[in-house]
Amino acid sequence: MSIVTSLRSAQFVRVAETARASVSFVLDGVEAEALAGDTLLTAILTQQRRVRRSEFSGEPRAGFCQIGACQDCWVRSEDGTRLRACSTPLREGMRVLTQPDSRSDSQFVTENEVKEGDAQ
Ligand code: FES
Repeated sequence: MSIVTSLRSAQFVRVAETARASVSFVLDGVEAEALAGDTLLTAILTQQRRVRRSEFSGEPRAGFCQIGACQDCWVRSEDGTRLRACSTPLREGMRVLTQPDSRSDSQFVTENEVKEGDAQ
């Protein structure tokens, strides 16, 4: 799969540092590629125009602050872990969901809860 994405389908267009190593991940069940060093937000927005849909209006959202402060870029891994896309480094093989599903938020755990649980 090419990392060069159509201007129509992606929010971000990569114009520099295109020689970094490729990283494969799965976005909403579809194989995708981004580059080593990308945040999850960058990886998603070089594939499509939104990172999630607003839980209030259903409108597409693409993050806002890009620095981990606004809470506008939450996505989930397929195991249910909530991920703040703008501050989460993309890792090889990540399986990410940007679509809401039938599970309620109370069934998901945050990144910090997982890390605390791992330390025990
Ligand atoms: S874009 Fe604001 S917290 Fe991620």
